[in-house]
Amino acid sequence: MTHTSPVDSYHVINLAQKFGLFSEQWKPKVVAQMNDYQFKIARLEGDFIWHTHFDTDEAFLVLEGELRIDFRDGSVLLRQGELYVVPKGVEHKPYAAREVKLMLIEPHGTLNTGEQTGERTAQNDLWI
Ligand code: NI
Repeated sequence: MTHTSPVDSYHVINLAQKFGLFSEQWKPKVVAQMNDYQFKIARLEGDFIWHTHFDTDEAFLVLEGELRIDFRDGSVLLRQGELYVVPKGVEHKPYAAREVKLMLIEPHGTLNTGEQTGERTAQNDLWI
């Protein structure tokens, strides 16, 4: 049987397999895209920089470990299986005492450092 589906192969994305392909921290990797949104996975440990995304919300889904997201007037602690959406325009700083594995869901073109581009800015649109 042949078919003409645009899907060449019914390829499932396995996140454990994807995490096995890299060990560097603070470098989000794109694993899938849906319309304009990308699904990125990353390993984070330690402190990030304060930054803001003026154009978009940013979703964090913790897959393994714990992530704290600090705000100027509070913080949230995300454990495995927990999700949080940082609203557009809200300054935030991720922190993980130990390495955390997470997924970011955000529009194509979103920089990890928001407006604070510099040495902590990761290469964008890097697929794995
Ligand atoms: Ni952010």
